[in-house]
Order: sequence, then structure tokens, then C-alpha cells
Amino acid sequence: MKASTQRSVAALAAFVLVMIGGCVSETAQRTVSAEIVPDGGQIYKMRCAMCHTLRDPKRYDFATLDRALDKYAWRAGCNNSEKAGIRDYLRANAADGN
Ligand code: HEC
Repeated sequence: MKASTQRSVAALAAFVLVMIGGCVSETAQRTVSAEIVPDGGQIYKMRCAMCHTLRDPKRYDFATLDRALDKYAWRAGCNNSEKAGIRDYLRANAADGN
């Protein structure tokens, strides 16, 4: 009984590690070293479709998008200029964008 509990805990831990590791290693591969900033829409498509399908910014107001960007930009491996580029793109394309 104790052994089987340990086995299922180990299985769960392994599963969680695979989930996390999968996303982290993908992030590492996509790190861009050049400081050239392509347009925000391009970066958005490259960076923000790793964990879910690309969200259509027109379906969200900018405040929601900006919150998500703050939450996930580092997970997507964005540097500060990429994040700024994505923010400009989202601001222009949000439901309440201009
Ligand atoms: C590490 C995985 C991951 C990456 C990378 C990621 N997201 Fe997400 N995103 C999620 C998860 C999980 C959710 C659903 C939970 C939530 O709402 O926070 C989500 C939800 C969202 C939502 C919906 C939020 C809401 O309040 O309805 C938006 C918008 C979004 N992401 C935008 C982005 C943008 C922009 C990027 C690129 C910077 C990005 N995501 C990158 C995991 C990710």
C-alpha cells in the first residue's frame, strides 16, 4: 500500500516535470540573441502560440492583453524589446485598440 502510493506520487511528479520541461526547453530553443526588432505582429505569432493557439487580440480589450503579456512574456522567452513590440501590436489590434 505504501509502495503503491509512492509509485503514484512518483508518476505524478514525472508527469508534472514533463509538462514543465516541455515548455521550458521549447522556450530556450526560441531565444533570439540579435537585438534587431522585427514587427510586433511577427514576434507575437512566434512567441505567443507556444502554449495555446494564437489569441485573436480583437477578442480582448487591451487591459486583458497587457495583463496576459506581463504574465507570460518571460515564459515565452521574450526580451524587453520583443515584449515592447508585442505590446504595441496588441494595443493597435485590441478590441478597444487605436
Ligand atoms: C507558458 C505557456 C504560455 C505562454 C508562453 C503564453 N501563454 Fe497565454 N495563456 C497561457 C495559459 C495557461 C492561459 C489560460 C490561463 C490564464 O488565463 O492565465 C493563457 C491565457 C492567455 C490569454 C487569455 C487571458 C484572459 O484573461 O482571458 C491571453 C490574451 C494570452 N494568454 C496571451 C498571451 C500572449 C500575448 C503571450 C505571449 C507573450 C502568451 N499568452 C504566451 C499560457 C501561456
